[in-house]
Amino acid sequence: MSAAPIERRGPIAVVRLDNPPVNGLGAAVRAGLEAAFNDLLADSDVSAIVIAGAGRMFSAGADIKEFGKTPPTNVPNLPELIDWLEASIKPVVAAIHGVAAGGGLELALGCHYRIAAPKTRVGLPEVTLGILPGAGGTQRLPRVAGVEAALDLIVSGRLVSEREALKLGMIDAIADGDLIDAAVAKAIELADVGENPRRSSTLSDGLTEAQANPGLFDAFRKSMEKRARGMNAPYACVRCIEAATRLPFAEGRRFEHEEFKALVTAVEARAMRHAFFAEREVSKIPDVPDSTPTQPIESAGVIGCGTMGGGIAMVFANAGIPVTIVESDEGALDNGLTKIRANYQATVDKGRMSQQAMDERMASITGATDFAAIADADIVVEAVFEEMAVKQQVFRSLDGICQPDVVLATNTSTLDVDTIAAATGRPESVIGTHFFSPANVMRLLEVVRGAKSSPQTIATAMGLSKTLGKVGVLVGVCDGFVGNRMLHQYLREAAFLVEEGALPQDVDRVIFEFGFPMGPFAMSDLAGNDVGWRIRKAQAAERPSNQRYSGTLADRICERGRFGQKTGAGWYRYKDGRTPLPDPDIEALILATSQELGMSRRVISDQEILERCLYPLVNEGAKILDEGIALRASDVDVVWMQGYGFPRYRGGPMFWADTVGLDVIAAAMRRFQAEHGDWMAPAPLLERLADEGTGFKDL
Ligand code: CAA
Ligand code: NAI
Repeated sequence: MSAAPIERRGPIAVVRLDNPPVNGLGAAVRAGLEAAFNDLLADSDVSAIVIAGAGRMFSAGADIKEFGKTPPTNVPNLPELIDWLEASIKPVVAAIHGVAAGGGLELALGCHYRIAAPKTRVGLPEVTLGILPGAGGTQRLPRVAGVEAALDLIVSGRLVSEREALKLGMIDAIADGDLIDAAVAKAIELADVGENPRRSSTLSDGLTEAQANPGLFDAFRKSMEKRARGMNAPYACVRCIEAATRLPFAEGRRFEHEEFKALVTAVEARAMRHAFFAEREVSKIPDVPDSTPTQPIESAGVIGCGTMGGGIAMVFANAGIPVTIVESDEGALDNGLTKIRANYQATVDKGRMSQQAMDERMASITGATDFAAIADADIVVEAVFEEMAVKQQVFRSLDGICQPDVVLATNTSTLDVDTIAAATGRPESVIGTHFFSPANVMRLLEVVRGAKSSPQTIATAMGLSKTLGKVGVLVGVCDGFVGNRMLHQYLREAAFLVEEGALPQDVDRVIFEFGFPMGPFAMSDLAGNDVGWRIRKAQAAERPSNQRYSGTLADRICERGRFGQKTGAGWYRYKDGRTPLPDPDIEALILATSQELGMSRRVISDQEILERCLYPLVNEGAKILDEGIALRASDVDVVWMQGYGFPRYRGGPMFWADTVGLDVIAAAMRRFQAEHGDWMAPAPLLERLADEGTGFKDL
């Protein structure tokens, strides 16, 4: 927006923010607003001003791409611009539709009246970018909506509906007819009153309760410890809101500005901005342009109603897509449907879903034991046993029954998608959709592109991931795809560290303190140790005898029936079913096993644990990029942030590796190779980037 487009409605001027796609408040928009307001404030025919958004929304806030860059000196920054608009003696009304987020809402809070259209969402999500609302939001929102609401909204970053916003006092009205007509009518009314407009910065009612009870800030800090672990921004947000209760507005604004400056260039904010753009970049596939036709998905079939099939069926039902599940017999079908029902019931019992919503979802799930039931489905997702012969048989049947445009997807986690596709006469329609367990909860979806998957099949599966509320990442065919292939490196080194001298609780603590929700041993206990045990037994014959085996301890733990949380014991024993406790029996087993393997146990530092677990993971990521299995380093980051709990404030493994320095990681890998074996050899791409002094971000 080089100049803000202005429409005149009698004495009212309607200024539109116009900077597609989200009306980001970049330098050009701010310059346009300043110029428009200069004219309108000087124009005696204009008695009041309405600010509205052109296109899809009011505004998504500051232009995130401008962060970290030197701003032009001749354009006001957003906080200054908002203060100036608020000081206007002519009333300014914000007419909000779509979204008013971050600086967009801060701009609206600087206006003298706020009216929203139905289906609008507003909020201050800056904390999700590792920053705080730095254009007066931490000072105006508590004054307008109260301290408690401000703490909740600013620290969570959640957007609220226009109805909730009205209840909280963030907006003054919801338009029941045309938004601009309603805003113009209000502007006329305010101008006619002729009083000084109401300015958010001068309000104080919202602050009084907290001023009388300043202990509430410490209580709030305590309550957010778990979700804010490892991060600075949430605490900075609280400090600013606290400052609003202590300082006059102008000083509070300066305080906010200082806190904002300290955050915006730090690694936390850079990592979270990287995560924001990475999650949007995943849908861009160079040889599958946006214009690629897609198959509309109005109905789905799922084959197999076990752990994954049941969850996948729920994902379709939750997205409003009717789904038919085919099982091998009535018994297995009943079993699977009962588990789905119980799953929904638990959500209803927790008050997170209405009974009516559950009934609707169950009604959209149909069971069958005959493939004919899915002949008309637009997509079929196969989730049967992980055996090639069984999968191929299923795909042969699907090929014979399904309509021509169907997408045939497999949920395999280890098998070759191309071999599965070869069982059909239409490999171009076959693709992998690797959901993560529990499928109805985890947001990651690895979309596995087969050698022959057509652009239409790929585009449909990627588009579907959005419809299903998932983050779809396109990956290539290889053992473990992106996520599990890298995970394997991490789990192997964790096991070796325990053989060499660490204890499971040492490794888990280091990984937890790094920012993962849990360490590898607690994770294995949660997922079930028997899963890996079964795979290791199946692959025993192919295992090279001259290579160090990482499953010795895990096998022994499984031989004792310690499958993890589900059996009440695994690498840990469990209190209340969920809290892991170090187990002396396991420590004795570990010491005996180390001795038997000829290891003389040594003290292993936290730093070594971190490097041994995470550097090989990054190294494998480099191989994955070199082989073209992932399109971009940022795609690998998305897989790890969404699928494995890699801390978002560290930006994913490849972004984090750049912050460590690839020369440091390559040198450590060479050292590990010399000390442990060739499986630790640095990846050629890692070596190259380290030599060049560049990073994964430069690829
Ligand atoms: N700045 C720059 N680009 C932005 C942007 C922003 N604030 N918000 C969105 N975009 C870009 C996206 O990167 C995307 O670009 P591509 O098409 O090139 O990938 C495009 O706009 C569309 O975005 P979405 O795909 O996310 O669109 P959506 O309709 O799914 O969601 C939205 C809309 C809810 C507004 C979402 O875009 C969003 O959450 N945006 C960020 C909101 C935010 O965090 N604002 C705070 C900014 S910081 C701030 O304002 C600081 C301050 O206090 C001064
Ligand atoms: P599961 O054993 O829980 O369920 C498989 C189901 O398929 C069973 O209910 C079985 O009766 C049914 N089935 C078998 N053959 C069939 C046939 N010919 N027709 C119809 N139904 C048939 O297995 P799970 O764990 O759900 O795994 C399914 C697939 O998902 C596998 O390929 C697995 O590798 C993959 N996967 C599993 C994950 C997990 O965490 N369990 C994670 C990601 C992928």
